[in-house]
Amino acid sequence: MKLERFLATGISAAAILLLAPTLVDALDAAPMLPGPRHEQHGAIRLVAQPLRELAQRSELRIGTAVDAQSLQNETTYRDTIAKMFSTVTPENVMKWDTVEPVQGQLDFSAGDQLVEFARSHGQLVRGHVLVWHSQLPSWLTSGTYTPDELRQIMCQHIQQEATHFRGKIWQWDVVNEAMEEDGTMRQSFWFKNLGPTFIADAFRCAHRADPKALLFYNDYNIEWSNPKSDAVYAMVKQLVSQGVPIDGVGIQGHLDLQYPFSGPVSIAQNMQRFQDLGLFTAVTEADVRMMLPADDLKLEAQAAGYSAMLQGCLLTERCISFTVWGFTDAHSWVPYAFSGQGAANLLDENYQPKAGYEAVATDLALVKREHQP
Ligand code: XIL
Repeated sequence: MKLERFLATGISAAAILLLAPTLVDALDAAPMLPGPRHEQHGAIRLVAQPLRELAQRSELRIGTAVDAQSLQNETTYRDTIAKMFSTVTPENVMKWDTVEPVQGQLDFSAGDQLVEFARSHGQLVRGHVLVWHSQLPSWLTSGTYTPDELRQIMCQHIQQEATHFRGKIWQWDVVNEAMEEDGTMRQSFWFKNLGPTFIADAFRCAHRADPKALLFYNDYNIEWSNPKSDAVYAMVKQLVSQGVPIDGVGIQGHLDLQYPFSGPVSIAQNMQRFQDLGLFTAVTEADVRMMLPADDLKLEAQAAGYSAMLQGCLLTERCISFTVWGFTDAHSWVPYAFSGQGAANLLDENYQPKAGYEAVATDLALVKREHQP
């Protein structure tokens, strides 16, 4: 919670906790709050208003990664996603190792369920991900193929998946994480076997399969200008100049309080250069992790990280969605992927809003923006 706001309203986080056993209850209870408090205490009003409604002012889609199993099994998880977000991304179930664990045996059922959930709640879907070096099936990585065969396998995979979901995906992450921190190409399975042309090929195959989906290149540590984002810029500039069907750049937004991060203006400037190439931008996987235990100061710093990315996006006309990689500390990839770290999300483990949530709500409420997605 922003300190000035906190002091001005005279309410405490504990009061919010009392009012709201979970955020979903807060959302449900919002109209029941007594009038004067409703008018006087901006913090409560914003916390109680779904992010997806607040985001409508800026014509921004606000989204989250969704864990398919929790969606099926946990009511609070499901209800919060339905109420709070206007776009969803499958956290894992559209990845290659899920959709084709055995060569030739396609299984899109978990992805289909998410697509249906999204449809029934008026949400758009970010498809994630067609070509990545990680979460590949072992039949693929342990097979022996000529470059031509492998290129064909890659394109066939894209074609099968993008065709299956044709018309149901708003943005596809076509290629994920192809660049290293120093701006050289990642020595990935794809690069080592096919060279840099796999990227243009992937976009062409995806476009043939689903001509209406917006096709994105997606990567992390490219939020502001640095050797990696400069290299991504050079690469997508070349793709655009070659007429490759790319529509956008996804900026993942995995921040870590152990490392410096830039403010909204630097982030917006970086997005603007992609926009100047004719591309959309999106924040696709925002979270801000910290060494545990969390404390109030770290949570304020975390709020600043979320706010920098969201404001950067809101300052950029063609930044069309802001997606968090999980929304509650009860379900996050961070503790598994980064030893000793966690508390990276907008809601805590009990679905209570953290300072980051209020910062995001406040930023969204401030903006009136018009663009043409
Ligand atoms: C992560 C998932 O969140 C985990 O559940 C899974 O075990 C590994 O992948 N960048 C990406 C995402 O593009 O696909 C990754 O998701 C996180 C980093």
